[in-house]
Amino acid sequence: MTTKNKVLKVLEENRASYISGQDLANSLNISRSAIWKAIVLLKKEGYIIESSTKKGYKLQSKNDLLSEEGIRIHLNKKYAQHPIVVLPSTNSTNSDAKKMGIDGAPHGTIVTADEQLTGRGRFGRSFVSPKGKGIYLSVILRPKMDILEVSFSTILTVIAVRRALKKFSKEKIQIKWVNDLYIGKKKISGILTELVSDMESGKVDFVVAGIGININAKEEDFPEEIREIAGSVNVGETNRNKIIAKISDELLTIFEDFEKAKIIEEYKKEQLLLGKQITFTKDEKNYRAIAKDIDEDGGLIVESEGETMVLQSGEVSVKW
Ligand code: BTN
Repeated sequence: MTTKNKVLKVLEENRASYISGQDLANSLNISRSAIWKAIVLLKKEGYIIESSTKKGYKLQSKNDLLSEEGIRIHLNKKYAQHPIVVLPSTNSTNSDAKKMGIDGAPHGTIVTADEQLTGRGRFGRSFVSPKGKGIYLSVILRPKMDILEVSFSTILTVIAVRRALKKFSKEKIQIKWVNDLYIGKKKISGILTELVSDMESGKVDFVVAGIGININAKEEDFPEEIREIAGSVNVGETNRNKIIAKISDELLTIFEDFEKAKIIEEYKKEQLLLGKQITFTKDEKNYRAIAKDIDEDGGLIVESEGETMVLQSGEVSVKW
C-alpha cells in the first residue's frame, strides 16, 4: 500500500474527527513531512481534508470519493480481506468483473466505478451511469449451487440491495418484479446478474451480480428520455463507500445462508406490482393483466381475461 493510501485509511477510520500529524506519523511509522506530502496528494485527488496546526487533519464527513480503503473499513470483518477494485471510470463493471472471474478472481471480489461509459442493463439496454451520481457495483460470486438454483441469484441480489439501502433511507423502497427497485413511481436501481458456466461440466463457474443505483441525483443528471422514470435514493451525507460495503455484506451473507421460503416471503411482501394493472408481451402477444401474487419460485402470477398465468422472467409495465 502506498503512503498516500495508508494515510487515507487512517483518515477514513477517524472520519469527521481530527487526528494529529504526530499521531498519524507514529501510527504509520513515517515522518511528518511524508504525511504532509500524502495529504497534498489526497487533496489534489479531491479529498476535502481540513488541517489545523493545533488539531491536525480531518477528513470531512461529506467527502464522497470512492476508495478501496473507504469501502474496506466498513466491510464486515469476515469479508474485510476480499479483493476490492475501484475505478475512476470504466465501460462496465460487469464486463470487468466477468474478465476478472475468468482469470480466477475469488468469490466476493468487489468491482466498482465512479462512472460507466457503457453501463449495461437487462435486455441489451444501456444503464446511464453519470459520474459521482450513483453506485455502479459488480460482485463476483462463486456459490455452491447448481444451474437451476442459480436462477435464484437475481432475487437474492435485489433483496440484499434493498436491505442495505433501507439502512440509509427512510423512504419506502419497493421491488418491481423481477429485480428493479422503485421509490414511488420512479426506478432507483436496476440489477443485471450474469452467469458464466463450464460448458463441459454444466456447473456454474461464477455469477456476476451487477448493481446500479442512483444516489442523490437530480432530474437534470439524467438524459431527457429517462427523466420521467429515473429516480434516486436520498442518503443525505452518507458516503457511497459505506453503502457499497453494506450492499456487499448483505449480498455475501444472503448467498451463504438462506431459506428459500423466507426469502420468497420477503420478496412478496415488498412487491410494487401486486394488485395493479400491468401489460406485458409473451410469445409476441401483448397482454393486459392484473398482478396477483408471487409463487414459491418467485414467478409472477397474473390474471388476464379470466386466465391465470405464471411469468418466470421478462419485464412487465405497470399502469399507475
Ligand atoms: C437494468 O436496470 O436493466 C439493470 C442495470 C444494471 C446496471 C449495473 S451498474 C453495475 C453493473 N455494470 C453494468 O454494466 N451493469 C450493471
